[in-house]
Amino acid sequence: MSQITFSVPRAFSTNYDIQLIGYDQSSFQPKNLKFLSPTKQVRHEEEAALIGFEAKLGHTSLHFTEPRTAISKRVMLVGLGDTKKLNSESLKKALVAAFNKAKKEKAQQLFLSFDFFRGEAPSISAYEFGRLVAETATVINYELNHRKTELGGYKPSPKFERVDVCISTFDDLQALENGLQAGATIGEAVNLAKNLVNEPAGNMTPQALIDQAREIADASDGAIELRVYAQTELESMKAGAFLSVAKGSADIEPPALITLNYTPKDARPGIKLAEIGKSITFDSGGLNVKPSSSMRDMKGDMAGGAAVLGAIKVIAALKLPIAVQAILAATPNMISSKATKPGDIVTSMQGRSIEIDNTDAEGRMTLADGIEFARLNGATHIVDIATLTGAIFYALGPDIAGVFGNNEELTDLVLKAGKATGERSWQLPCFDGFEKANETPMADLKNSGGGFGGGASTAATFVLTFARETPAVHMDIANVSMKQQMATGYGVRTLVEVARQLSQA
Ligand code: BES
Ligand code: MG
Ligand code: ZN
Repeated sequence: MSQITFSVPRAFSTNYDIQLIGYDQSSFQPKNLKFLSPTKQVRHEEEAALIGFEAKLGHTSLHFTEPRTAISKRVMLVGLGDTKKLNSESLKKALVAAFNKAKKEKAQQLFLSFDFFRGEAPSISAYEFGRLVAETATVINYELNHRKTELGGYKPSPKFERVDVCISTFDDLQALENGLQAGATIGEAVNLAKNLVNEPAGNMTPQALIDQAREIADASDGAIELRVYAQTELESMKAGAFLSVAKGSADIEPPALITLNYTPKDARPGIKLAEIGKSITFDSGGLNVKPSSSMRDMKGDMAGGAAVLGAIKVIAALKLPIAVQAILAATPNMISSKATKPGDIVTSMQGRSIEIDNTDAEGRMTLADGIEFARLNGATHIVDIATLTGAIFYALGPDIAGVFGNNEELTDLVLKAGKATGERSWQLPCFDGFEKANETPMADLKNSGGGFGGGASTAATFVLTFARETPAVHMDIANVSMKQQMATGYGVRTLVEVARQLSQA
């Protein structure tokens, strides 16, 4: 993955492909622009006005620059709307439009001058501005080309290489630079999560997730420690819920409980955050096999695990002062004569008995043991993120993840993190009647709510039962983790922000 160099140059450079200039809508008044010159040297504002550019939020207008001594070949006017109202969300909208257009134009060297606050106190901090610029450019720079070959006609498309930011609005250039570095780190982790999810299930096995986790630990300068629990250890830990999912494939692709521990010396005392990501490397449904159309995207059933890996990488790189444990219970959910059967009863690590009502409700089985493991390891706060239910599509549509919690404070913190990062999420109910759906005369619980309705809520209630008194939030991202069969990297940003907020609180 090629990385972009972001900087705040102290001296002017030249030879940019495009200079991006932000415009406030109220100060960009086409009617005030002077009589248009008939010569070729029309100022780009006039030219833009001529073709109807009004600096509306997210609108752009691209122009060749004259004279040729200009620092860039072209100039892009970027509408920022009413900059008095500018916030992270609207600034992001403008940046997305601008970088997407620049990408289409095959630009590699960019110069960004967004001096739009015109004397007023900026409504956004220098750090936040830098973070948004670098994160957005990095995420847009991502190209999906996993198995494309030259033979097949593939030509690599030009990538952003350099983005220089020039903005006199902010005095604190160090904060701006820190924001740029943080944004690049977060953007790269989002791209990493996308790569893991987009990778075919034939390659993205539990072992491949271990390798990825090791790479993150090795690159962390000793800040992150990897520990993997293999089949026999899981048996002695009595991880019966997790192992019941692995049974159908354990001889070929053995399961692994992968943990990454980040325990900085300056960690906020008394706090340990567990981030647990559902890591089913392929979900066939098991003996309750999925129909073809539902199985098609099930290589993405480890999107929660991918988000957790990306997040802990960022948390360590940003040196956030909080202890975090990443937990991935990795296995495919497959069919064989050894596979778990509907009606089987297993005992989870916590000791609760679970009747397998449906082998396709496997995610909650792995999370049940993941959560108990987190508790045994001293978690004070638990956040799990999982492509858990098809029902979440019906509840919230394709863009908003579901949030469920057993503790108001932590739930609010997760919702706030979603708002701050632009990853949309919304709270849905659990417990308060939904426990009924998971009852069975055969065991303490059954793993599917059956025809009760509210499938995302009954699943969440099952999962959070295992958190007991520990503050815990469950995020269902089955609806947002992929768009048109391509990974979105959803969750990295929210998980990082949760850790950041919890490190301060
Ligand atoms: N991995 C699926 C959920 C899913 C669906 C993820 C669509 C991404 C896109 C999960 O393991 C599953 O199969 N859930 C079942 C539960 C049911 C059997 C109780 C479902 O939602 O149908
Ligand atoms: Mg399933
Ligand atoms: Zn699944």
